[in-house]
Amino acid sequence: MAESITITDNRTGETVELPIVNGGVAATEWSKVLPGVWFYDPGFMSTAACESAVTYLDGDAGILRYRGYPIEQLAEQSTYLEVAYLLLHGELPSEPEFVAWRQEITMHTFIHENVRKRFLDGFHYDAHPMGMLVSAVAALSTFYLDAKQIFDPTSRAKQITRLIAKMPTLAAAAHRFSVGMPFVYPDNSLDFPANFLSMMWKVAEPHFEPDPVLTRALDILFILHADHEQNCSTTAMRVVGSSHADPYSACAAACAALYGPRHGGANEAVIRMLTEIGDIENVPAFIEGVKAGNGRLQGFGHRVYKSYDPRAKIIKRTADEVFEVTGKNPLLDIALRLEEIALSDEYFVSRKLYPNVDFYSGLIYQAMGFPLDMFPVLFAIPRTAGWLAHWQEMLDQDSKIARPRQLYIGPETRDYVPITAR
Ligand code: ACO
Repeated sequence: MAESITITDNRTGETVELPIVNGGVAATEWSKVLPGVWFYDPGFMSTAACESAVTYLDGDAGILRYRGYPIEQLAEQSTYLEVAYLLLHGELPSEPEFVAWRQEITMHTFIHENVRKRFLDGFHYDAHPMGMLVSAVAALSTFYLDAKQIFDPTSRAKQITRLIAKMPTLAAAAHRFSVGMPFVYPDNSLDFPANFLSMMWKVAEPHFEPDPVLTRALDILFILHADHEQNCSTTAMRVVGSSHADPYSACAAACAALYGPRHGGANEAVIRMLTEIGDIENVPAFIEGVKAGNGRLQGFGHRVYKSYDPRAKIIKRTADEVFEVTGKNPLLDIALRLEEIALSDEYFVSRKLYPNVDFYSGLIYQAMGFPLDMFPVLFAIPRTAGWLAHWQEMLDQDSKIARPRQLYIGPETRDYVPITAR
């Protein structure tokens, strides 16, 4: 059987055979035959914008792999820093490579004093930490002017290291500012997730040693959120990066995309929803309301997953471990009941709506003491590795600037009428 499709232009009778390569058909071939006839695809529902070797995702089968490694194995056995290396370099590091990588990241955790004192301290007292993060990441481009050298391998590697290393520092600084607590400098004796927790929670103790179970849980959440192929924020990174903007500017755009409730804001919406439901007895009525069109079941449904999100399964297990330390989040019972009812309800089953990664992650973050405002920030920290892996891959592919076409539906040409005659 030929791996191709044949298209006939019924206006001319002309036919053309297009090969199917890696599950797709090259739109440029189509355009050669039918110039000026565009694919109409709002939200890119049926469009592959690139070829990528970073992450494999099969939404129907519930499969997620980074560089070929199943997410379950990485969550079980790896660390976020190792996964970041894997995403960026395509292979797991050898021991010396990992030691060097960890050292490199650790040496770049500090931020320039002016970023904190002049820039972050200038925000309004109740600034949302994600708004602060978006702006702070963009501001880094003004501190590292060499970042514009995106085709210089040394400069590129340096900016990648800086972004991954400084993201937790900026994130914690945004939190400390929003609660009126003094900034905590990085503690380079701690590993990546523990250092972040120290910068978040340290008060007056000379050395903050976070609970190892919570540290590992956070690292697992970082692994699960490190990449998810061409999602909204990664697409933002690629689109801005395709103009050859510096990586801080592109990363700020990706952070901004992650800020929205349809993307990185979903776990916050889950907590608000569970709090609003208030009691397990109110779950059936809430579900009926959703089915009647009164809002959505937050943390359910996904553009790509049409079965149980594999990350949600891992997170559910992690939640149990965290609750052993923190005590059970009182909203958990409501969440479990919601899931139980939804998974047996025709409305959700027929639409293939299953819990996504955000259904349980918010419960963990809340039990660990993170305020709701910090949830998208917690997502941005690890996703930075994924954004950068895709950005780098795109630059190496010598890609075109992102510039889609449109189907114009506005008025025909008409003559200007002076304001006095309108
Ligand atoms: N609750 C109730 N109904 C839903 C839900 C939901 N969470 N999600 C989708 N549906 C219904 C829609 O009403 C629609 O029904 P219809 O065919 O009768 O009109 C159908 O399922 C298809 O929904 P779409 O909006 O077309 O699906 P799309 O792929 O565009 O949206 C999205 C995916 C945005 C994630 C959606 O499922 C949603 O809003 N979920 C809640 C928010 C959420 O959890 N977002 C996190 C996503 S994961 C992440 O970003 C990390």
